[in-house]
Amino acid sequence: MTKQSWAEPFKIKSVELLRMTTRQEREAIIAEAGYNTFLIRSRDVYIDLLTDSGTAAMSDRQWAGLMLGDEAYAGSENYYHLEAAIQEHYGYRYLVPTHQGRGAENILSQLMIKQGDFVPGNMYFTTTRLHQELAGGAFVDVIVDEAHEPASEHPFKGNVDIAKLDRLVREVGAARVPYVSLEANVNMAGGQPFSMANLKELSAYCRARNIPIMLDATRAIENAYFIKEREPGYANKSVKAILREMCDLTDGATVSAKKDLLVNIGGFLALNDEGLFKRAQNLAVVYEGLHTYGGLAGRDMEAMAQGLREAVMESHQAARIGQVRYLGEQLEAAGVPIVKPIGSHGVFIDAAAFLPHIERDAYPAQALAAAIYVEAGVRAMERGNVSAGRDPETGANRQPNLELVRLTIPRRVYTQAHMDVVAEAVIGVHQRASTIAGLRLTYEPEYLRFFQARFEPLGP
Ligand code: F0G
Repeated sequence: MTKQSWAEPFKIKSVELLRMTTRQEREAIIAEAGYNTFLIRSRDVYIDLLTDSGTAAMSDRQWAGLMLGDEAYAGSENYYHLEAAIQEHYGYRYLVPTHQGRGAENILSQLMIKQGDFVPGNMYFTTTRLHQELAGGAFVDVIVDEAHEPASEHPFKGNVDIAKLDRLVREVGAARVPYVSLEANVNMAGGQPFSMANLKELSAYCRARNIPIMLDATRAIENAYFIKEREPGYANKSVKAILREMCDLTDGATVSAKKDLLVNIGGFLALNDEGLFKRAQNLAVVYEGLHTYGGLAGRDMEAMAQGLREAVMESHQAARIGQVRYLGEQLEAAGVPIVKPIGSHGVFIDAAAFLPHIERDAYPAQALAAAIYVEAGVRAMERGNVSAGRDPETGANRQPNLELVRLTIPRRVYTQAHMDVVAEAVIGVHQRASTIAGLRLTYEPEYLRFFQARFEPLGP
């Protein structure tokens, strides 16, 4: 077969120089950072795969859009541009801009959740669940079992298990379920999509019981691309049309625009219900800023509207998801255990399988992320026992089944050569895996501990 290569659908106009450190320097840096990659200074990182959030390279059109910023306190022209772009692409009627995704999650949770409610969702996301809990709700995981198994090749590991949802609804009653919290391309499962067939079934179930579906559409466009690739009947539909079909089956969305939408800051809440929208606009002025800017500059909203138009381009998604796959396939070929299928926004290493000698409460994924940094200055993120936090009732570590390290790929930032360097670094660490020690917590903050916790190694 002749080789069929793809290339990025852009050329590079401006570059940022990188700094390489020595292994000795990195050993000192990681100790200084308490073995937490969130606490390393960016200048000490060579290839930064901490997150795909707010790290994209903007296009020339987005940068040009910044100059069109209408920095009026009220009624900025950019708000109306963004509103039109969101109505066209996602199809929701009403927009409340927020400073980022968690701003929208706060408003939605405060408005819809009452003390003692249960919020079913297809696996938790850290900030989403915390806002649900702070509003008085309890999160209940209703994702399919395969999502918790790194090696399962299920093509739609983001699907909701309707039987699990039905069990909850029967047990507590629909009145205690304010909405279903549905995440597109489930982050903590490894960037795994739900199928349109599953969403249709979920929507029919919820509509029959008057339970709204609130979509975390942060990576919904990447989910739409996977539906096009994998789901029968969608190969000839555009990503844009699939996104619209998806949103039409839901009642509203929270979005961190720092991912799909190719901007460095921003988010929004989008709703169809007018009454709820009015109340959300009102809460926005308490937590975010006036309802026509929500903590953003006018220019940020302009860049977001343009980013949305670029994000639905198939050539963009093909290169974006293709690059992640390029890295993942190299690791897989070398025998590094990774979450399958390879997701959209990063390659997730199965740290429990990588470091079987480290017990879960000695945080293998945290230790692995630190080791990858020391190896080559590549910064990854723990997504396991540290991220999952403690059970609010018992105070014990939640010990999720997935103990992962995420190599998250920023959009349009790195080349395939960078991916080669990352693969070599991870393979190098894999070869000396048995020499890596577990960690012990030395400082643990109360909320979202993974951001600021500090550790020290157990033994040499
Ligand atoms: N929902 C999902 C699915 C996310 O991945 C994130 C952020 C948020 C909500 C919150 O949005 O950061 O704009 O307030 N995820 C980042 C990450 C932090 O690295 O995965 P935010």
